Amino acid sequence: MQNMYFDNAATTPLHPEVITVISEALMEYGNPSSIHSYGRKAKGLLEESRVAIAKHLGCTPSEIYFTSCGTESNNIALRKSVDCGGIQHIITSPIEHHAVLGTAQDIARLNPKVEIHLLDVDSKGNYSLDQLEQFLQSYPKALVSIMHANNEIGNLANLEGIGNLCLKHSALFHTDAVQTMGYFSFNLNKSNITMLSASAHKFNGPKGIGFLYIKKGTKIEALITGGGQERNIRAGTENVAYIVGMTKALSLCYEHLEEKSNYIKRIRAHFKRSIEKKLPQISFNGDTENSHYTILSLRIPVSEGAEMFLFNLDLKGISASGGSACSSGASKGSHVMEAIGNNGNCVNLRFSFGTHNTMEEVDSCIQHLSEILEA
Ligand SMILES: Cc1ncc(COP(=O)(O)O)c(C=O)c1O
Repeated sequence: MQNMYFDNAATTPLHPEVITVISEALMEYGNPSSIHSYGRKAKGLLEESRVAIAKHLGCTPSEIYFTSCGTESNNIALRKSVDCGGIQHIITSPIEHHAVLGTAQDIARLNPKVEIHLLDVDSKGNYSLDQLEQFLQSYPKALVSIMHANNEIGNLANLEGIGNLCLKHSALFHTDAVQTMGYFSFNLNKSNITMLSASAHKFNGPKGIGFLYIKKGTKIEALITGGGQERNIRAGTENVAYIVGMTKALSLCYEHLEEKSNYIKRIRAHFKRSIEKKLPQISFNGDTENSHYTILSLRIPVSEGAEMFLFNLDLKGISASGGSACSSGASKGSHVMEAIGNNGNCVNLRFSFGTHNTMEEVDSCIQHLSEILEA
């Protein structure tokens, strides 16, 4: 049986060159905070990584902070910018990842002076910049947290438009770019993004490592206190080998980016066209015309439940996901589907593509999907 992995929004395979650089870096066991030669060597690897990541993103190395994952980056960005910036309003959307929504709710629980304002989303998951502007006019001292691409339906945010409004109304702007890092180009110093979260395992790097961009001059302090690493923002001995691996993974992503993104776009377009032609009973969730090119969410009018459907696909060697893998692989109870009014009798399946997928895999997957639907 051929195994087909269509769950790249959940996590991506490690690039073989990333495994090599991690193995080599693991041999350099010095602590980057030690002043002897072992420590200096580790520190060198750490700072070279910071410089390389900053170069890819058009910012300065001192604006990059290493963290343990995207969730931690989101937690630092929200909790500490609210604490340090005297923020009283968090403006966000109901389709953010739980790492943002749950964190915002916890901030409001701990500090009753902080209010959360959710933008309205329509049935395609779109919100309006006009409403964002109204919120920004009504709620001064705000933090706006809007994800770059939604991990369940793929919708892309207009980072420039949101950033311009935040600048106009002196609000902080955080974006969760966990799904888009390595897939889109960023020029952060030219943007009005105050903070941006990323996670290595979504771009062919290892799990358990990420970073947070914080624009110079932003008032912020440590969430995890201790030895003062990462310029007092994130204490704890740095995971040098994984940081080196993450940097390699990001560098590889930005090599021939256009070629790779065009390839994935063709795979996704072929998948979508094949569904439209052969399985017209299936529709698509989200705004497929303004979507991340790796993600396609299907709405299938059957009542058997996502888990059963995913199980049947798995038996045929197909790995996909029900909504978001971060919420246990099932679309049941997905807050994103609920927000777009999709809580009817259907199964929502997320397919997410990578450069390793082929047109033949897509054809075979469509064939298996129709067999399951006919059974
Ligand atoms: C949009 C988004 N934000 C945050 C996360 C959490 O990232 P991590 O797994 O690195 O904590 C994910 C993971 O799926 C995600 O898709």
